[in-house]
Amino acid sequence: MTKKPIILGVESSCDETAVAVLQDGENGNAKILSNIVSSQFEVHKEFGGVVPELAARSHLEKIDLITKKALNESKIKISDIDAIAVTAGPGLIVCLSVGLNFAKGLASSINKPLIVVNHLEGHALSPKINSKLEYPYLLLLISGGHTQYLSVEGLGQYKRLGTTIDDALGEAYDKTAKLLGIDFPGGPKIEKLSEKGDPNKFKLPKPIINKGGCNLSFAGLKTAILRITKNIKNEQEKFDLAASFQKTIEEILYEKTKIAFGEYLKKNNDRNFVIAGGVAANKGIRNILNKLSKEYDFKTIFPELSLCSDNAAMIAMVGIEKYKLKLFDKLDFKPNPRWALDKDAKFLKGAGVKL
Ligand code: KG4
Ligand code: ZN
Repeated sequence: MTKKPIILGVESSCDETAVAVLQDGENGNAKILSNIVSSQFEVHKEFGGVVPELAARSHLEKIDLITKKALNESKIKISDIDAIAVTAGPGLIVCLSVGLNFAKGLASSINKPLIVVNHLEGHALSPKINSKLEYPYLLLLISGGHTQYLSVEGLGQYKRLGTTIDDALGEAYDKTAKLLGIDFPGGPKIEKLSEKGDPNKFKLPKPIINKGGCNLSFAGLKTAILRITKNIKNEQEKFDLAASFQKTIEEILYEKTKIAFGEYLKKNNDRNFVIAGGVAANKGIRNILNKLSKEYDFKTIFPELSLCSDNAAMIAMVGIEKYKLKLFDKLDFKPNPRWALDKDAKFLKGAGVKL
């Protein structure tokens, strides 16, 4: 029997230094042999967002060690790795450069192919690691830097149906958290606080809810929350604001996803709906999108919770699919900080990176 390909993935696009080793599996999924993620929360905590120079320095300091750890844990010898897959964009250029240069060095030293990966494609394929999922499918990508509805037609084939016109959803969570005096990244903490609050206490705006198709907007929420926080009197009101924010986000996603379903079905018959990216870990969002999908006869597919936020397993997963098609890259490939999944889609948003 021929050996199934084994890919080492490297991720360093923002504030996680991550390396994983995956082996191609049955049914188009993969076996995780190791998956190491080192987050830089402590480095950026006091700044309320990611500081690019500090992030790059931390990647440089850790990437060797994380790779050794990932190889040790996988029990795979470096000579048994078939290719090195690495994130080459989008993200912070100083951070991308660290991972990409490291991967180039590793690939050439073991004389194996280099495969560059779009970080967003990593999120898009993350549920494939553990579940059977065939193309095409509808994707809602919700992370710290991106919020998009995409029709995923095949590997590297994306059609954007809608996008945020200002802040990404993770960014909206993080900014709200900051206004409530909560450390970065605030998303998971807002979710926790919201469980103790009254979701009907504060009425928040739902920008462009009745226009713009399935495009989204979250910047107006921040302004409203800033105004309310100035008059907050006690802890309970903080919880109420977190709960009202969480409920408003759920309502926005409910309405916009309905529109996205309609857009998607204009050209497709299947009804698979993937929700991926860091914010896909949010239980309230998972519940509301499960409910809506049932009503519209869609099947929801989420990545494992540990694979929602940035990791290198998802990068190696794309690596496996590209490896099987012999889609290899040259060693002079440059990082691409604004690498869009749908290159024909109109540019509607800012820098496309976290905070
Ligand atoms: O995918 P990710 O790890 O990084 C990017 O590629 O951006 O997403 C990080 C974002 C952060 O904004 C974080 O606050 C948010 O995901 N996040 C959450 C939750 N867990 C992470 N937001 C809401 N609820 C959560 N449970
Ligand atoms: Zn990400």
